[in-house]
Amino acid sequence: MAGKVFFSVSMSLDGFIAPESAGDLMGRQWMELQQWIFPQRFFRENLKLGGGGEEGRDNDIVRETFERTGASVMGRRMFDAGEQMWPEEAPFHTPVFVVTHEKRDPWERPGGTTFHFVNDGIETALDQAREVAGDRDVRIAGGGATILEYVNAGLIDEFSIALSPVLFGSGVRLFEGVDAGRVALEPVRAEPTRRATHLTYAVRER
Ligand SMILES: NC(=O)c1ccc[n+]([C@@H]2O[C@H](COP(=O)([O-])OP(=O)(O)OC[C@H]3O[C@@H](n4cnc5c(N)ncnc54)[C@H](OP(=O)(O)O)[C@@H]3O)[C@@H](O)[C@H]2O)c1
Repeated sequence: MAGKVFFSVSMSLDGFIAPESAGDLMGRQWMELQQWIFPQRFFRENLKLGGGGEEGRDNDIVRETFERTGASVMGRRMFDAGEQMWPEEAPFHTPVFVVTHEKRDPWERPGGTTFHFVNDGIETALDQAREVAGDRDVRIAGGGATILEYVNAGLIDEFSIALSPVLFGSGVRLFEGVDAGRVALEPVRAEPTRRATHLTYAVRER
């Protein structure tokens, strides 16, 4: 059976998923947005940030999101930022399809992650990801522009938002430009933890 296509992001309470400038990526706003995930044991191990860390529902959510993912798709800007930051053993451990206009050979990392660069659009990238994911799910990893393309194309089945207790005021809005007339949402789960509120929705066509 084919898996689902989903995304899972951290969002500020006022709807932003990234600071205005990519240069601020490791700045205060980004750290506050992600403050729920950095202490989690699974996240720390996967990013090689050192041992220890919290266990509990936040950690389980990070692990479950990883385990359900058989392949990821991401935009070029997320890849460019990650290329600078991920450890040599990149944290995906599956194929990753990067939608881009740039032509580039596949980039294989130790630990099972291979980045494939797809030049003919989001549907081709998704077809390739589905093929290798088998019965596991495909994660549209980000960033905002790429997620929105998939939402507006009606290709997302489900999404999760970790709503962080932080206000940005400005930045990159997750749903800026969404085709709201096309998308209907069905609540699946709402899980508050000490650090964030985890919201999951199924996407239905209107
Ligand atoms: N809050 C979170 O949980 C979270 C999660 C992930 C990412 N992010 C944030 O998201 C930001 C990056 O997102 P972004 O929206 O700026 O960019 P993005 O979606 O990562 O990448 C956009 C780029 O991907 C390429 N692309 C996208 N669609 C394409 C298509 N159909 N055909 C060919 N190329 C295509 C284009 O690059 P080229 O034309 O240059 O090839 C485009 O400029 C980062 O700041 C990151 O922090 C946040």
